This record gives sequence, C-alpha cells and structure tokens, in this order.
Amino acid sequence: MSQPSRSDPPRLVVCAIAGSLRRGSYNRALLRAAQEVAPDSLDIRIFDHLGAVPPYNTDVEAEGDPGAVRVLKDAIREADALLIATPEYNHSVPGVLKNAIDWASRPPGHSVLAGKPAAVLGASTGLGGTALAQNALRQVFVFTQNPAMLQPEFQLARAHEKFDEAGRLTDEGTRTFLRQFLLALEAWTLRLGVDGHGSTEQWPARRMTPAVR
Ligand code: FNR
Repeated sequence: MSQPSRSDPPRLVVCAIAGSLRRGSYNRALLRAAQEVAPDSLDIRIFDHLGAVPPYNTDVEAEGDPGAVRVLKDAIREADALLIATPEYNHSVPGVLKNAIDWASRPPGHSVLAGKPAAVLGASTGLGGTALAQNALRQVFVFTQNPAMLQPEFQLARAHEKFDEAGRLTDEGTRTFLRQFLLALEAWTLRLGVDGHGSTEQWPARRMTPAVR
C-alpha cells in the first residue's frame, strides 16, 4: 500500500468524547453512529476512558498527570478536531465531562485543547435535546480557546425513540443529518487551517492569541 503524500486529500483525525459513563448511553451510541456515517475523509476515534479520569486536583497535578489524564491529553493532541456528545444533567454539562475538560485545559495557555476546532452535539430523552448543556459547553470553550462550530446545531430529543435495543441509531433522518453535521465539522476544521497532514500542536500558537494570565 502506498504511503499518503501531501497531495492526498486530508484525512482528519477527530477525537470523539461522550459525556456519559453508562453502558447504554445514547450519547456514546451517537458517536458510534457518527463513525458509521462519516465520510472517508474523517477518522473518528472514540475516547472511552472518561471513567478513569480522576477528579481534578491541583495537588495531584503538581505530582504529574495521572495515567488516564495522559491518555486523554494524547488522544486530544493527536486529533485535528474534537467531537463532543454531551448529555444534559440539570441543565448543564455532566460533571465527568467537565472534569475531563478541566484536566485537559492544563497548563493554561499551552493546553492540548487550545485552538482545537470543536463540534458539540447531544442526545437526551427529554424534549430539549441538550440545548442548555451545549450552550454551557460552548461557554467553557471560550476559556479553553476551542473554536466551536456555530452551525448546524445538533440536538437530539427523545433519544430513546431513535435507537434500537442494541444502541444503533435507526432514525434515517437523524443519520442523514449526522452526516451533514460531520461534513460541516470537516469544513470548519479545514477553514481554521488544520489540514490533517501534520501535528496540530504548533498551529494554535500561530493562529490563536494566547490567553493572558
Ligand atoms: C438527566 N436528564 C436530563 N435531561 C434533560 O433534557 N435535561 C436535564 O436537565 C436533565 N437532567 C438530568 C440529570 C441527571 C442527574 C440525569 C441522570 C439525567 C436525562 C438525560 O438527558 C438522559 O438520562 C440521557 O439519556 C443521558 O444521556 P446518556 O447517558 O444516555 O448519554
């Protein structure tokens, strides 16, 4: 097989994180569906170790990142973009997801998050479709310097009606929209100057104004 060259179309790596630990999570199922419907130009890698990330503690951090945090940071560092499927807990982001973002946001100004394009989506069993949690996450992304895709918005309400018992997204309209959403993330990422041909570690510093702290 020939090696990819710089003239090949870019294949973007997407680090996908679901903010739920439960086995039957609709949000994780949504990420699996994203892998199914994504264009070949996207390599969607699900980070599935959220439950191993300890509660954020500056004292622990001072002794060195715990193993699960290193794995999390590596997964984000190696990705060209983020895809976050958030449940909504009490009108906001679940603690486990916010906790992981807090770890990944360190050290401030030089984090693996800084400058990484992101898309937010979510599924809930209620009618709101995680709109409030997504807005809360977008607020977080202001401080972590993640350019979050503006449109389209993806809010999946009444999720229990859209998946089968095995957790497969069966609603055809949602599958079609999910593919459009991923194509929009690809365009958003390329527009921000990430070309999938190399490390993104340098580009945020080039393109983003570092936060002054
Ligand atoms: C919820 N749920 C919920 N749904 C919603 O639309 N708005 C909300 O504020 C809340 N709050 C909330 C708090 C807590 C503690 C739990 C456990 C649940 C319901 C939630 O959207 C539903 O359980 C989803 O299925 C959770 O996502 P996963 O685990 O299926 O990915």
